[in-house]
Amino acid sequence: MKKIFVKTYGCQMNEYDSGRMAELMETEGYVQTDNKDDADLVVLNTCHIREKATEKVYSELGRIRHQDEASGKKRLIAVAGCVGQAEGKEIFKRAKNVDMVFGPQSYHKLPEYTKAAQKGEKVYEADFYEEEKFDAMPVKPQINKVTAFLSVQEGCDKFCTFCVVPYTRGAEFSRKVADIIDEAKILVGGGVKEITLLGQNVNAYHGLNAQGKVTSLAELCAILANIQGLERIRYTTSHPRDMSDDLFAAHRDIPKLMPYLHLPIQSGSDTILKKMNRKHTAAEYLDIIAKMRAARPDLALSGDFIVGFPGETDQDFQDTITLIKQVNYASSFSFKYSPRPGTPAADHDNQVPENIKAERLAILQELLFTQQKAFNESLIGQKLPVLIEKQGRYEGQLVGRSPYLQAVYFDAEPTMKIGNSVTIDIKGFSLNSLNGDVVKAKQMSVA
Ligand code: 5AD
Ligand code: SF4
Repeated sequence: MKKIFVKTYGCQMNEYDSGRMAELMETEGYVQTDNKDDADLVVLNTCHIREKATEKVYSELGRIRHQDEASGKKRLIAVAGCVGQAEGKEIFKRAKNVDMVFGPQSYHKLPEYTKAAQKGEKVYEADFYEEEKFDAMPVKPQINKVTAFLSVQEGCDKFCTFCVVPYTRGAEFSRKVADIIDEAKILVGGGVKEITLLGQNVNAYHGLNAQGKVTSLAELCAILANIQGLERIRYTTSHPRDMSDDLFAAHRDIPKLMPYLHLPIQSGSDTILKKMNRKHTAAEYLDIIAKMRAARPDLALSGDFIVGFPGETDQDFQDTITLIKQVNYASSFSFKYSPRPGTPAADHDNQVPENIKAERLAILQELLFTQQKAFNESLIGQKLPVLIEKQGRYEGQLVGRSPYLQAVYFDAEPTMKIGNSVTIDIKGFSLNSLNGDVVKAKQMSVA
């Protein structure tokens, strides 16, 4: 039996895509392996968002080549995902052991590509087939998985000047409501209790329902909330420009929609936001946050930040610090600006020197991590519903997630199983997790 190994780089979208590719090859008789050395087919599902992510792929290709030369066994190698789309045939020049190069919108053709590669062909595909792709993909019940991703939207029409996504993932595309419901039901039937709806601009979702009517993300969440057995719904990533009143209301009205919002702003300076082509100001962002918090006061907020965008002055950076203080984030992702070939900002004057980027990132992260710890600490003494996901670090310990997405560690009771929801009295915290004790049924009824 032939074996496939898939290595995922980058975002949750890629994680979802990797799962689909592996399942597709299973229908072709392949089995999945976690051991790259064992595999007949190695798929690197790649990320092009920053230079470092791209370079990691070339290092991995180099390692595979050395191993193949040492063992005398040539594995088939596919470079899928955003590096495949962006670098295209260049990859064959830089890494001669690669057999297939294709982008995120054509991976449903992997069986076909593999057959051609087995005949010695170099396969290259850069077309966008997003609609066809979703139709072609099998979804099998994810037995033993409590939480799953579900792609509902792909691509981006925003063209932030630093970002490769509009070029690698293509134009915005929303899947049909009925297809999403079918996939969600299959997942829930297989034991999934929590679904995270994915999209590069997930809140720009505008898929058609059975009557051909455009449906918003808020409406989609309300429809999915009717699925029995589905306990939690999340979505990521959102753009401030696409935040709408019905999404605020959904957070107020749909208990299954978790109180968590990942809403990148990138910079707190209006000058930089304009140069980034973000299409909104810092004040507009703060207004959205206020509306979300009015709808759901316990909302946990998360954001993405870029420091050292071309032309960023000390004052611009201070504006970002001020904004972070105004918002108070529960979690975050922050990066040094990385010029990406083909994006407008890569050609801007006034690129910021590396040492300044590093300095600013350290200051920014210290503040963000302090806020994250303070948010976690504020939960001490609360009794939180926790969805159990897996075994903990030691025998008898389990770990699940709070509604606010932190991992929660606790000592299990014998009857508790992965997939159960339990109430945990929060007693301790760290930067990334909480811990506490199970609240007994008796205690709960008193409380
Ligand atoms: N340099 C640094 N960070 C970037 N991101 C996107 N493009 C770049 C880049 N060229 C970050 C943004 C985005 C997240 C997914 O990655 O913060 O929200
Ligand atoms: Fe990239 Fe901006 Fe689109 Fe996000 S909204 S994927 S940062 S272009």
